[in-house]
Amino acid sequence: MSQEVDPVKVMKQEVGKAAASRVKSNSIVGLGTGSTSAYAIEYLGDRLKSGELENIIGIPTSFQSEVLAKKYGIPLATLDAIDHIDVAIDGADEVDPQKNLIKGGGAAHTREKVVDSLAELFIVVVDSNKLVDQLGSTFLLPVEVIPMALAPVTRALEKLGGVPELRMGIRKDGPVVTDQGNLVLDVKFTKIEDAAQLEQKINNIPGVLENGLFVGLADIILVGEIKDGKPTVREF
Ligand code: 5RP
Repeated sequence: MSQEVDPVKVMKQEVGKAAASRVKSNSIVGLGTGSTSAYAIEYLGDRLKSGELENIIGIPTSFQSEVLAKKYGIPLATLDAIDHIDVAIDGADEVDPQKNLIKGGGAAHTREKVVDSLAELFIVVVDSNKLVDQLGSTFLLPVEVIPMALAPVTRALEKLGGVPELRMGIRKDGPVVTDQGNLVLDVKFTKIEDAAQLEQKINNIPGVLENGLFVGLADIILVGEIKDGKPTVREF
């Protein structure tokens, strides 16, 4: 592989494409957020354009995925217009051996959890750097918080053993504001022993909208890897 090629980008492209190639005609598809999901959305659009795929309806998980779907010609609907989702394709920031996830690197985990949890088949698309033995080892846990509750939620997360930090914008002064108009606390936990319990405890704090632990939701994890200089995709 030549030096100019970014291996992470190649892994993301391949795995996004692999997931999009599993989508069948006449289906309702949850469209995830992030750079890997963006490749899946692009390839879904290509398949529609070529006629290989017909009659797809996308359900976006963010403003970003809505914009991309429109760009690539994928018809969209909202959750009040449909009664099921056949398949959702979405990225993740960490994946543990039990297929539990940390999501929210793009601050979209609230809508992602709604859409991904409704899907009959939830396919997660990651590059191999996202695989961890224990959740929380490389990535902080995102928690979406209603702005007026920022101070009490921060204290409550500290009581749970976390070290919360308000997510700040890049090329925008001040904090990140989510698609719902809320703030994000990124929380460092030294060890997440029981992800299901922590997910519930955090969501029980008044003022928390949703956290980035996705426990027991993923059906298939597709992992993009570089093997012998070549990109490959394996099912985990
Ligand atoms: C957005 C997410 C993304 O899916 C996650 O951050 C992975 O992003 P990328 O594919 O860019 O690495 O959860 O909220």
